Amino acid sequence: MSHDSEPTPLSAAPGAPLRGRLRPPGDKSISHRAMILGLLSIGETRVEGLLEGDDVLRTAAAARALGASMERLGEGRWVVRGVGIGGLSDPAETLDFGNAGTGSRLMMGVVGGQPVTATFDGDASLRSRPMRRILDPLRLMGTQVLAEAEGGRVPLTLRGPREAIPIRYETPAASAQIKSAVLLAGLNAPGTTTVIEAAATRDHTERMLRLFGAEVSVTPHGPDGHGRAVALTGQPTLRGTEVVVPADPSSAAFPLVAALIVPGSEITIEGVMMNPLRTGLITTLIEMGADIERLREREEGGETVADLRVRASRLKGVDVPAERAPAMIDEYPVLAVAAAFAQGTTRMNGLHELRVKESDRLAAVAAGLKANGVAHLIEGDDLLVHGDGTAPPGGGTVTTHLDHRIAMAFLVMGLATAEPVTVDDGAMIATSFPSFLPTMQALGAGIGE
Ligand code: S3P
Repeated sequence: MSHDSEPTPLSAAPGAPLRGRLRPPGDKSISHRAMILGLLSIGETRVEGLLEGDDVLRTAAAARALGASMERLGEGRWVVRGVGIGGLSDPAETLDFGNAGTGSRLMMGVVGGQPVTATFDGDASLRSRPMRRILDPLRLMGTQVLAEAEGGRVPLTLRGPREAIPIRYETPAASAQIKSAVLLAGLNAPGTTTVIEAAATRDHTERMLRLFGAEVSVTPHGPDGHGRAVALTGQPTLRGTEVVVPADPSSAAFPLVAALIVPGSEITIEGVMMNPLRTGLITTLIEMGADIERLREREEGGETVADLRVRASRLKGVDVPAERAPAMIDEYPVLAVAAAFAQGTTRMNGLHELRVKESDRLAAVAAGLKANGVAHLIEGDDLLVHGDGTAPPGGGTVTTHLDHRIAMAFLVMGLATAEPVTVDDGAMIATSFPSFLPTMQALGAGIGE
């Protein structure tokens, strides 16, 4: 359950401009949800473009252990046969989610709302992450927590009730994972389960629940209307359907920033999901002066997607408002890299949630910047990165702390620093972007062992 294979150090060296086209893998958030709603529905769910990264494969294995059957028809093409709400069976073994926060937390919502008992565990990163934010609302819904590691962490064992109790719950943090866990538990509650969030977070669960036949209403909430009240009518019959997974904007972020900072680059990233609750990085980079064109905007699988043409750009420092954080929460490591090449200071406000990601990302980013000679400062929950518009020295080794996004962000940095950048372990890249290395190499990037 720990990450006990040998670490895989990787290095990135500055080199020629990046050129070409790529399609990033399927969106991780949507891929997890496709497997989960496939399990909870009756009949067949056909998925196209599934991200076949370790995180999603763990969720698929857990869905299978809870009763779903599935078949892989080809690359990214899966059929899931579900058991329906109330039809889950006790898994024979511990559900091992590896590195996957989203998979484990959403599945806790599923198990917590159904009459089954399951034990959740994961790697050293997952074992360090807070789960009380999920267990607290689940307890209100009738879930028994039979065992938990100190501080409300995995390994933990849940037993759900025959029927969950519908609740109205205000999330204590802007977190789509908390919202989703409560809604998924609410699927087996007689009545309306409502989640109130002070700031809107990614809405893939709401959208996909509707696609599978549930009734979900979403209304603006709070004095400024930035929040949302999401209300789900419990005990629907979910019916298997077709899910087309668009390319993941959080994975697209890495080649995108690479093309901006490597002089002379021009690349096109195809089919990227443009859901406004996921595009905060693009908004920020354009404010910084990035040359990013959105081409061929179209609908795919219920989401707007576009091809992004990206050209190397002179960037300037900007102030990133805290309100934007939910729409770019996974993109701060690579934004910090872009900021290191910008002229002036980039101030990223309100990053407290970064402390509880796959690693303490605020600390990991700061350490990586330091190792590579980039001036920066942490002020409370804000990160300030100072650039002078020239390439930072590089030459450092970055500790990734089992965090895929720390690994990819600093490899991107090493494509344009004066000296190469090394990351101590790139193994976790396989959780979200298994083809990262060949994809980047095909653009001309000098990344390797
Ligand atoms: C995700 C929500 C975010 C994000 C994670 C995926 C999701 O986490 O960081 O990578 O799919 O719901 P939080 O909900 O904890 O912010």
